[in-house]
Amino acid sequence: MKVSENIESLVPYKAGKPIEETKKEFGLETVYKLASNENPAGVSSKVIEALTKALPNLHRYPDAGCVEVKAKLADFFNAKPENITLGNGSNEIIDLLIRVFCQKGQSILTSEFAFIAYKICAQAAGVNIIESAMDQETMSFSIDKIIEDWKEHKSPVVFIANPNNPTGTYISTQEIVKLLEVTKGTDTLIVLDEAYCEYVEASDYPDSLKLQKEYSHLAVLRTFSKAYGIAGLRLGALIASTEVIDYIDRVRNPFNVNSLAQVAVSAVIEDKEYLSRSRNIIITEKQKCYGYLKELGLEFFPSETNFVIFKTKKPCIEVFKELLGMGVILRPLKNYGLDYYMRWSIGQDFENMAAFEALKKVI
Ligand SMILES: Cc1ncc(COP(=O)(O)O)c(C=O)c1O
Repeated sequence: MKVSENIESLVPYKAGKPIEETKKEFGLETVYKLASNENPAGVSSKVIEALTKALPNLHRYPDAGCVEVKAKLADFFNAKPENITLGNGSNEIIDLLIRVFCQKGQSILTSEFAFIAYKICAQAAGVNIIESAMDQETMSFSIDKIIEDWKEHKSPVVFIANPNNPTGTYISTQEIVKLLEVTKGTDTLIVLDEAYCEYVEASDYPDSLKLQKEYSHLAVLRTFSKAYGIAGLRLGALIASTEVIDYIDRVRNPFNVNSLAQVAVSAVIEDKEYLSRSRNIIITEKQKCYGYLKELGLEFFPSETNFVIFKTKKPCIEVFKELLGMGVILRPLKNYGLDYYMRWSIGQDFENMAAFEALKKVI
């Protein structure tokens, strides 16, 4: 079969290795998966209750316009329903943003070592990718380099993962405002992907929803896969100008958000106790993981997310394989071009301890 060159050369997204597959492959009874930035707090009991009630209606199509859930999310985000659209995970929205706002041969602009989905979706759409150099000392985005590259390429969409996956680093209000000011009044859309914003502790982290009201060319992407713990149901949200939302809604598949996801998100945004528990586990456990990494003599980068990246002394693929044999799944970052780096998703106390013990043997 003949496909275009961009599809032929596309390397698909590599998800964290599944637990059951690893158990079978290595004949293990227990496997600790700390590879997909999932929520170690499990599912909110309010979500389980709401889903149980909703199950008898599964023969119905979901509400295509997500009217009820958008009204609730409008309150939640302090925005208007017409400034919100929802996706099958925020990943779908990334794909839609590129398909809608970039034409073949144009480019998206992002940073080196930014979330890999931007590159995959762009390549699938036949759109070029400009990656501004990252500040490798700090593993953070360089807004000055991004601005420089934007001036040269005038890319219609700029993706800033804030904080970024896989580096865990963030950019400040001052930096994002600098980019917004330079790009204001042009045809460029700045997308702030805030998949991990609920975990951020830094005091100069931007209030993006407030900024969105001031800068109509800013679009904010959120997910319910991380701190809200419904990754399996797939729900992401875009908060943007009515013009941006209208274009995305023209292309979005009518039933992209399933009925259980709609029910679950309504329940979880009301469960304040769950969010605070999810956040507290990460904040406490992350400090312990930093301690383990220090004890192992492994360099790491302080993170504002629910994961931490660290440098390995041998190729990360080797470390990954050795850990797998001991029933611990961490994420090697080779596909990001970071051959000596791994990402550790923060888990519960006993899971992190298992990873530490396994790393001790491998290192
Ligand atoms: C920065 C970033 N954005 C978006 C996503 C996609 O999340 P989802 O499609 O589950 O909403 C992820 C997932 O890991 C991520 O790390």
